[in-house]
Amino acid sequence: MQLFEKIPNNVNLSQNRRLQRALERWQPNYIKWWKDAGPADFQADDIYLRTAISVDSKGWANFDYVKMPDYKWGIFLAEPEQDRRIPCGDDYGKPAWQEVPGEFRNHLRRIIVTQGDTEPASVEQQRLLCACAPSMYDCRNLFQVNVEEGRHLWAMVYLLHAHFGRDGREEAEELLERRSGDFDKPRILTTFNEPIDDWLSFFMFTMFTDRDGKYQLLALAESGFDPLSRTTRFMLTEEAHHMFVGETGVGRVVKRACELMKEDPNEDARAQGGIDLDTIQRYINFWYSSSLDLFGGEISSNAADYFASGLKGRAHEAKKFDDHLAMEGVYNMEILEDEQLVTKEVPLRNAMNEILRDAYVDDNERGVARWNKIIKEAGIDYTLSLPNRRFNRKMGLHAGRHFDLAGNPITEEQFNAMRNEWLPGDADKAYIKNLMKPVLERGKMAQWLAAPARGINHKPIDFEYIRRT
Ligand SMILES: [Fe+2]
Ligand SMILES: [Fe+2]
Repeated sequence: MQLFEKIPNNVNLSQNRRLQRALERWQPNYIKWWKDAGPADFQADDIYLRTAISVDSKGWANFDYVKMPDYKWGIFLAEPEQDRRIPCGDDYGKPAWQEVPGEFRNHLRRIIVTQGDTEPASVEQQRLLCACAPSMYDCRNLFQVNVEEGRHLWAMVYLLHAHFGRDGREEAEELLERRSGDFDKPRILTTFNEPIDDWLSFFMFTMFTDRDGKYQLLALAESGFDPLSRTTRFMLTEEAHHMFVGETGVGRVVKRACELMKEDPNEDARAQGGIDLDTIQRYINFWYSSSLDLFGGEISSNAADYFASGLKGRAHEAKKFDDHLAMEGVYNMEILEDEQLVTKEVPLRNAMNEILRDAYVDDNERGVARWNKIIKEAGIDYTLSLPNRRFNRKMGLHAGRHFDLAGNPITEEQFNAMRNEWLPGDADKAYIKNLMKPVLERGKMAQWLAAPARGINHKPIDFEYIRRT
């Protein structure tokens, strides 16, 4: 472990002077990017943050006050698995690659760059949120997510520098040059170019979009390219907190909505300054459907290639599946043909994106069930739900078609007539925007948000998570 170096790491960076120098040259550009595109305020303040200083269970969550630009962004790979084998695809069972196989170089670089690009993109999307944080606790959580997305960028840049030579270094520079929403140099994926300027959207993003990230990382953790697998395995431990922020965040909005409904003669949460359950449902519909798009096409020859070459597996490939070749068998997929839903048999390898999406859908269902438990415990008769996966898709087989929340095909006119019932409209957005006022007194919460069940790292909820200087 090399903790006290300029770049903390567990990859023996000091043994490789060339690589170390290259990364030390990239570092000031990274800090410049952070100051320029990271949180728009609070950069000089002391924030109570978790820093990874090793990958074992004790060391990876170290809490202390730190000024964000001084955060120790390190390079940490999960411990190597002895005699690790390629977990899937045509080379199943052969020793995992420690170096990039020449024939897969371009594919692999593209996978790493695309993953890497989402990390700084989300920091950029969220940069203005600190100006309207609903509590000190939440503001601190936002910064925690942000610095860790920054570390995830480091993780991908390490791979590019260590394994892809000159073009890897160029890609690393470009990762700092693109900007979310920029007209000339946007981030790679569309979803990561939309600003997130209200906290309901932030909670939805960390619930649904960060969870897409979790499943992409789970697929990469099954890569035959061992350094990628080890990097992503460690990223997943951090990612869990991001989804905690999202799931409990939405849960607290739900809880507060229920409390306010009970205080109001007409059960109107908005009349009491809260966010009503119907609006929460519309935000779920939007963010869930938009995050589903990130998994790529339902039938995909790229996904088949990635699986065949062992670059990406299915989530928990070793644990959950027996046949790691997936040469035989089909996936039954519902597809709209001539305005009729028909079931099509898709060769398994071509359905890998959809198989990953299935696991993602199940995971979200569990979260929604926990929100419904909150509503039930409040004694309110209302059920939140996920729309069908065909609803409101912009990518893949269902894009350009129209479906209701249950996934039944409908006409464009029918869809448009229901749009403001199903998705956040201008009035919703204006209402939410109006609620976004900063609340930063210790222990206080915005009117529309319930307090969390507990503080961070066993600290009380009214702990001074941010010390303004
Ligand atoms: Fe990340
Ligand atoms: Fe994340």
